[in-house]
Amino acid sequence: MSSEVRVDGERVRELRETYRRFREKLREAEEIAESLGRVIGHVSRDSPSRISMEDSTVTFSIDPGVYLDNWSRLGRAASYVGVVDIKGGELVVMRLVEIIRTDAIMAFEQRCPLPTTPPIEPGGLLTPVTIKAKPLVRVDGRAMREALPGGRPAVEPKVADIVIEPQSPVILPNAEVLEAALGLNVGEVVVGALSVGDEPVVVDGRAVRVTMRVSDLFQHVLVCGTTGAGKTSFIKNVISQMLSIDAPPLIVVIDATGDYYHMFIPPASRDSLADLVYGEASEPSSVTILYPVTSDFAEEVVKRWSRPITLSEALMGIAFTYFERYVKPICDALGLKAEPKRPEDIAIDEKARSVRITLTFERRGERLGRKTLEIVPFALVYKDVREEVKTLNPYFTEQAALMLDTVVSAVSEGRDVKSLRELVRRLVGEGAREVQSRTHVHRSTLENIFRGLLMLNNMGIFDVRVGRVLLTEVDYPKLLSDQGRRLVILDLYNISGGRALDKVLTIRLMDKVFRWKEDEVRRGRPRPTIFVIDEAHRFFPKEASDKFERTYIEHVAARISLGARLGRRRKLGFVFSTHRPQDLHSIIPQLCNTKVVFRTTDAEVLRQLGVPKEYLDTITLAQAGTGIVVSHVYRQGHVTIKTPVPPIAGHYDLSRMA
Ligand SMILES: Nc1ncnc2c1ncn2[C@@H]1O[C@H](COP(=O)(O)OP(=O)(O)OP(=O)(O)O)[C@@H](O)[C@H]1O
Ligand SMILES: [Mg+2]
Repeated sequence: MSSEVRVDGERVRELRETYRRFREKLREAEEIAESLGRVIGHVSRDSPSRISMEDSTVTFSIDPGVYLDNWSRLGRAASYVGVVDIKGGELVVMRLVEIIRTDAIMAFEQRCPLPTTPPIEPGGLLTPVTIKAKPLVRVDGRAMREALPGGRPAVEPKVADIVIEPQSPVILPNAEVLEAALGLNVGEVVVGALSVGDEPVVVDGRAVRVTMRVSDLFQHVLVCGTTGAGKTSFIKNVISQMLSIDAPPLIVVIDATGDYYHMFIPPASRDSLADLVYGEASEPSSVTILYPVTSDFAEEVVKRWSRPITLSEALMGIAFTYFERYVKPICDALGLKAEPKRPEDIAIDEKARSVRITLTFERRGERLGRKTLEIVPFALVYKDVREEVKTLNPYFTEQAALMLDTVVSAVSEGRDVKSLRELVRRLVGEGAREVQSRTHVHRSTLENIFRGLLMLNNMGIFDVRVGRVLLTEVDYPKLLSDQGRRLVILDLYNISGGRALDKVLTIRLMDKVFRWKEDEVRRGRPRPTIFVIDEAHRFFPKEASDKFERTYIEHVAARISLGARLGRRRKLGFVFSTHRPQDLHSIIPQLCNTKVVFRTTDAEVLRQLGVPKEYLDTITLAQAGTGIVVSHVYRQGHVTIKTPVPPIAGHYDLSRMA
C-alpha cells in the first residue's frame, strides 16, 4: 500500500517535470514563431491534429479580427501558412485545404431551430474561422531564426511527417522564410513570384521569389502557353533580371517576332508586381543588334548620298536608317524623345563594323536615362562562305550537299566566280548541260543544287553593297567574347527575306555560337551563354511542309541536339517558347529539363509537360503571367509563379502601334 503511494508521488513529479518542459518548449515555439512571421493563431485544442501514413491535417481557428486583416492569405484555398511545432521547434509549412466560415447564429440553430430568418447583422460574423491545413515540409525553426534576417538560411527541408502538437503557434511566414522552407531560393535568376491562384504571394511588401541558378538554364527551358498567356513577358523579365546580376551571362536572342529588338526602350508602364519581385531591375541598358542587310535595304541607304560613300558613311547610313525606321516610331508612339546628345554619343568602329548610338531618353522634359544601341550590320559574301554553302542552306539534300563542291568547281573552271548571283547564272540553260556532261551529276541532284543556290541568292543577303562598300559577315568570336556586350539580338523581324532567310540566318548564328563555345571550352573558360528562341516552332517545326523542309528539319534537329546536350560543359543554355510542344520537333521538349507553362486549355500540353492534376483548373483559367514551373530544380518538382505583365523591359504590340 505504502509503496503505491510512493509511485504516485514519483508520477506527479514526473508529470510536473514534463509540464515544465512543455511550458519551456511552448515559450520557445512562441519565440521562434514571432521571429519567422506573424502569429495568427494556434493549433486547435478541441479538434485532433492528425498524421497517418495516408493523410495528415491540422486544424486551427483564427480570430475573426485577424482573419479580416489577412483574408487575402487566410481566406484562400492553397495559401501557405506555417506552424512551429512545440515539441521540436520545427517550422512546418502547410497549405490550406479547407476554410470554414460559420455565422454565430449556427451555434443557436443547432440547439433549437429558429422560427424566422434572423436579420442581417455584423455580430453574426464575429466567429472564429476554422481552417484545415496540409503539411508540406518541415525545417529546423531555430536554424532558420539564427540565419535571419538577411542571409539565406541554409536549412534542409524535410518531409513533413510529424504530428503537430495542439496549441502550436500558427504564423504567416515572412517571405524569406517561405523561400527557404519551400526550397525556392535556389539561385541568382529570378523566375517570378510564388503564386496562389492568380495572385502573387506578397508579405510585408516583398514578394516570395522563385529563383534558379544560371547553370540550371544549361539544361534548357521550354516555355509554353496560348497566345497572350505571357510567354514573351516571362522571357523578357528573366533576360532583364539576368542582366542585372553579378557576372551576368551573355544573352543571344533570335528575334523573329519583333518583340525583343526594342526592349531597351523604357516601358510606358510598370506592373505593380515588378518592384516587389524585381526591385530595381528594369529594361536593359544596352543592346547589340545584329542586323542582316538585304540588298533592298542597302539601296535605300545609299539614296541618302549623291556621291560614292566611305565605309564609315555606309555604317552610319545603315545605323540611322535602322534607327529612324524601326526604333524612332516606337519612341514617338510612346511620347518619348530619344536622341544622341553629344558627338561622342555616336561611335563608329570600322574594324568591328559597328555603330554605337547612345540615346538619351526624355518624356515630357523629364530625363529617363541613357541607353546604348549598338548596330552591327552584316551580309554574307559568297567568296568567303564558298566552302560553307552546303551547310548554310539546310534545304540541300544530302546528295546535293555531297556534290556541291564538284558542281561549283566545274562551273568555275578557269573563271573566277565572284558572286552567288554569277554562280546561279552559270547554272542556267547551256551552263547546266555543260556541268552535267562534265560531272555526271544526276539531273535531280543538279536541280536541287540549282534550287538551293537560287533560293539563297533570292534572299538578297549575298554580296550586298552599299554604294561600293561590300558588307561582310560579323567576326563572331570577337563579338561574343567582348564582356561589354551582354545582350545580342539577331533582328529577323525588320528584314524582308522571308521565312527561309530567317532559318538560314538562325542556323548560321547557332553554328557560329557552337563553334565559338568549342574554342572557348578548349581555352578553358567558356563564357556562360543563354540562347533564346521565342516561337521556336518557326525554326524547329514538327511537320515538314515538303520534301525540302524535311531535309532541313533533319539537319537542324541533329545540330541542336548535339549543341544542347553539351550545354553544361559548354555553359550554353537554350530557352525556347512555343504555343504547344506538339508543334515542335520532339527533340526540343526532350532536351528541356525545365518547363514553364502559362495559360492553356490544351489537355495534351498539360499532360505532356507534367503539370500536376491539382493545377489543371488554375492553368486553364490563368490570367496573363500566371504559370507553373515544372522542374527538378524544385523540391516538390513544380512551383506556381506570377511574372509581371507587361514585363520590366519594353514590350510593345507593334501591330497595334502601326
Ligand atoms: N505594353 C503592354 N501593356 C500591357 N499589357 C500588354 C502590353 N503588351 C502586351 N500586353 C498583354 O500582356 C499579355 C501577355 O503578352 P505576351 O506577349 O507576354 O504573351 P505571349 O504568351 O508571348 O503571346 P504570343 O503567343 O501572342 O506571343 C497579353 O495578354 C497582352 O495583351
Ligand atoms: Mg510572345
